[in-house]
Parts: sequence; structure tokens; C-alpha cells
Amino acid sequence: MRNSIAMKMSTVIRNTIAVTALAIGVTSCNNDKSTPGYTYMDDMYVSPSLEAYDQTDLFENGMEARLPAEGTIPRGYHPYEVPNTAEGYARSKSDNSVVPANFASMDPAEGEELYNIFCAHCHGTKGDGNGVLVENEKILGVPGYDNTRLPDITPASAYHVVMYGKGVMGSHASQINYEERWKIIRYVWMLRAEQSGIPDIGESVANEAPEAVVADEE
Ligand code: HEC
Repeated sequence: MRNSIAMKMSTVIRNTIAVTALAIGVTSCNNDKSTPGYTYMDDMYVSPSLEAYDQTDLFENGMEARLPAEGTIPRGYHPYEVPNTAEGYARSKSDNSVVPANFASMDPAEGEELYNIFCAHCHGTKGDGNGVLVENEKILGVPGYDNTRLPDITPASAYHVVMYGKGVMGSHASQINYEERWKIIRYVWMLRAEQSGIPDIGESVANEAPEAVVADEE
């Protein structure tokens, strides 16, 4: 009787050890932290998708990332094809095709906050060319936007300069997107009208001498 109890106990202990060892064995096989290890229903864990920018032998160049199909552009992307050359800059002053159709009717106030973040430290909050960096003499030669300092700029040429920079001014293309650039330029055109002492009537104030515009209004 005693013997058989002892035998049953030893069987239980042996089985427990065996199960524990098996469990440890199964779980400890998983040294790779990027996989879930032993899984019951694999498809729930192992996705057939590729990791972003991973290597793969699916494509010839061995890269997971694909280039867009030739001749296509991403939704919402606006290509700017005027080259960053003196000729391109000159062209931007006469070719208005890049200017959004609603430019003149845009609400200038929408660009104010962005302007104050990206442009005001050089061009000044009023657009008079006296930003903080100019007042502290950290940078020189920043123009105010008035039509005496900059008689022949246009919204398209301002866009060109925002895209590529000019002189000491760097390109802002990577910091502000298409919509933001035009919101800012519309605000610049309002400042330009204020600085020039003429009413802000949108795009058309650009190059007029103050007298001429006032005369036209009457
Ligand atoms: C680091 C200072 C700095 C910042 C920031 C800056 N600018 Fe300028 N900007 C300049 C300087 C300097 C010039 C004169 C460039 C030249 O003619 O050599 C200039 C010129 C311009 C001109 C006239 C270009 C022309 O055709 O003569 C426009 C328009 C302009 N900036 C708009 C902007 C706008 C819009 C922003 C903000 C998105 C901005 N700038 C941010 C320094 C700056």
C-alpha cells in the first residue's frame, strides 16, 4: 500500500518534470525577438507583407520600396518645373501659370501664422525688411516687400524664390508644403500693399506704382 502511493507520487513528479522541461524547451527555442515564437495558428502571426524599406528577392533591385510608375505624380503633389537658374527666375516674373486661380480671393489672414514662423525673423512681421535677425545685425540685405524696394516681383516669382531661395535666403521648399507656400505669399501680397501704401486688391497690386493704382481706383 505504502509502496504504491510512493510509486504514484514518483510518477506524478516525473510527469511534472517532463511537462515543465518540454514547456521550457519549446519556449526557449525562440531567441529571435522579432518573431512571436511558437504559435498555434501561424497565419494570425506571420503576415505575408514586407517590412518598409526591407530587402526582398521579389524584385530585381532587391528592395521592397518601389518607385512610382513613370509619368505619375502622387495625389495632391504639385510639380514645379521652372528650373533654378537665372533664366528660370526671369521666366517666373512673366509666367503666371503656376499661380493658383483663387490667389487674389484667398484670405490673406490664413498665411499670417505661417509667415510669422518662417519669414518674419528676416522680413519683419510687417514685411518692412526689419526682422529680428536684421535688427540684431545677424543678416543683411533683407528687402521689405514694398513696390519701391521690389518693383517687379510677382506672386509667381515669390513662389520661385520660396522654392529655391535667393542670395542669403535659403529654399523653404522642404519646410512648407504647396498650400502653405501660397497662403504665405498671399499674406506677403497683403503686406506688400500695406508697405506700398495702396489697397490690397490681391495679385494685381503687384507692380503698379502707388499713384497709378490709386488713380485706377477712382
Ligand atoms: C534668413 C532670412 C530670410 C528668411 C527666413 C526669408 N527670407 Fe526672403 N529674402 C531674404 C533675403 C536676404 C532676400 C534678398 C535676396 C537677394 O535678392 O539676394 C530675400 C528676398 C525675398 C523676396 C524677393 C525675391 C526677389 O525676387 O527679389 C521674397 C518675395 C521673399 N524673400 C519672400 C520670403 C518668404 C515668403 C519667406 C518665408 C517663407 C522668406 N522670404 C524667408 C532673407 C530671408
